[in-house]
This record gives sequence, C-alpha cells and structure tokens, in this order.
Amino acid sequence: HVDAEMLPRPPVVTVMGHVDHGKTSLLDHIRKTRVVSGEAGGITQHIGAYHVETPRGVVTFLDTPGHEAFTAMRARGAKATDIVILVVAADDGVMPQTVEAIAHAKAAGVPIVVAVNKIDKDSANPERIRQELTQHEVVCDEWGGDVQFVDVSAKHGINIDKLLEAVLLEAEVLELKAPVAAPAKGLIVEAKLDKGRGAVATLLVQSGTLRKGDMLLAGTTFGKIRAMLDENGKPIDEAGPSIPVEILGLSDVPNAGEDALVLADEKKAREVALFRQGKFRDVRLAKQQA
Ligand code: GTP
Ligand code: NA
Ligand code: MG
Repeated sequence: HVDAEMLPRPPVVTVMGHVDHGKTSLLDHIRKTRVVSGEAGGITQHIGAYHVETPRGVVTFLDTPGHEAFTAMRARGAKATDIVILVVAADDGVMPQTVEAIAHAKAAGVPIVVAVNKIDKDSANPERIRQELTQHEVVCDEWGGDVQFVDVSAKHGINIDKLLEAVLLEAEVLELKAPVAAPAKGLIVEAKLDKGRGAVATLLVQSGTLRKGDMLLAGTTFGKIRAMLDENGKPIDEAGPSIPVEILGLSDVPNAGEDALVLADEKKAREVALFRQGKFRDVRLAKQQA
C-alpha cells in the first residue's frame, strides 16, 4: 500500500473577536459576494461552513460561533482551523473577547490575521488598534512584527479582497497539504435532525476525498452517505480536502467537533460506533481505538 501524494490544500479560517465588532457582518459579506451561486434556485442556507474562490486561491470559512466551536474542538484535540481572522472594531479597540481570542489562537498555535473593522466610521482609529494589540504581542508587520493587519469595512465591503489575500499569503507560509487520493477523514462542524431528511451533518473534509456512497463513521454514529450537498444546497458527488459539505445518511446525529472517517464496510463502521457508545465490548476494538 502506497501512501497517497500530499497536495496543497486551501486554508480553513475561523473569524473571532469581541461582541459586535463585526464577525457576522464580515462572514455574511464574504459569503454573499464570493460564494459561487448554486443551481438550487439561489436559496442560500446556513450550513456552518463555506468556501470561496478568489483569483489567488480557495479559502474555507467555518461560520460558527467562533469561541465556542474553537474551544469545543480544541477540547476534543481536533484542529479545525489553520488561521484565525481576529476582528477588532476600529472605533472600539481591544476588548475582553479580543484578548480571549488571541489566547485561543496562541494556545492552538494558529496564526492570526487582524481585520481592523468599521474603518468607514468617523470615530475609527486603526492606528490605536495596532498600538493596543502590540501590548498583547500581536505586532503588525509594518512595525517589525509578524502579523498582517488589514483595515476593512465589513458593512461597505472595503478591502475584503486584501483581507483574503493576506489569508492566502499566511496559508502559503504554512504550506498546508493533505492527501487527495485517499479515503476521507474530516470533522463534524455541526449536525441536526431534520424532519424530512433525517440526520444532517456539515462535515469539513480534512484529508482524502469524500464520495457519495461512502460508508462513514462519525463520532458515535455511522451511515452510508446517501446524498452530499455543497453550501448552496447543490448536490455534489465528491469533495476534497478543506471543502465543507452537508451529508445525509447517518443513522444518528453526531456532535460538533467529532471526527469522521470513511471505512471500507458497514460492519466495521457499526462496530466502532457501537463501541464508542459503550454498547459493544470488544478488547480488540478497544485497543484499536485507544
Ligand atoms: P456578535 O455575534 O454579537 O458578537 O457580533 P458580531 O461580531 O457578529 O458583529 P455584527 O456583524 O453583528 O455587527 C455588529 C454591528 O456592527 C451591526 O450593527 C453591524 O451592522 C455593525 N457593523 C459591522 N461591521 C461594520 C462596519 O464595517 N462598519 C460599520 N459602520 N458598522 C459595522
Ligand atoms: Na452582534
Ligand atoms: Mg455575530
């Protein structure tokens, strides 16, 4: 068995920052202006993650309540994010959750790109944001540090291109890679029970290629992927590394932050899922899962 070749993959980004500094506005703006519109009648649904195509490459956003998701996933040892965009409102400055976000990113070893937001406001003082963040060891590259700062307005769409370019530049430095020609592994970003469709999960593929029809083990649940949809609700047959998809077919609803992997057969997937539920005692499996 030959290991699949490692190929460059897009960065996965989480947006963090203090209350009302503009995280949702930024994500919404990028999503509205950048996501290639689907064929499902243009109905955009919230699936917790999406990817955008820019002239310089693809960027994937985890559109989750940043801090909670980040903490939950870190507690499970999952590394969901490659880069944090730290949003700081230029009319407000560094606040408690700004500091908390910096601490999360540093603890996880994830680089930060600072989006100094609301620069359209008269009271905006982007220089002050740079000064304040220096005190938290987030030093802009103009001042000899290693952190890119981009002054933006999420509301008016100012400098969003520059922000995405800064993220892709950071990604180049990280040399992010994953195998493509391999069974998929990924992370459950969110999941719910849908009345008509059953268990619906948003999965971020982290390595390999996920295909419709694959047998997936996801946390304590499993199932054959019956349908796969992109962020526009458009059916797709496969997804590679760093691409988020919505999947149908799991026997139960997994938890956000749980890992998922494709297994060769249903028997194995069921055994591991049951074992993880504590319903199946098998020493051999216990050792494998340890
Ligand atoms: P929470 O999720 O509650 O923490 O807030 P958030 O960080 O997601 O902020 P949100 O995007 O909800 O924006 C908060 C407020 O700031 C809203 O009224 C936005 O319209 C406004 N806002 C966001 N970005 C900008 C901007 O670039 N300029 C101006 N003038 N207002 C902005
Ligand atoms: Na808000
Ligand atoms: Mg918000």
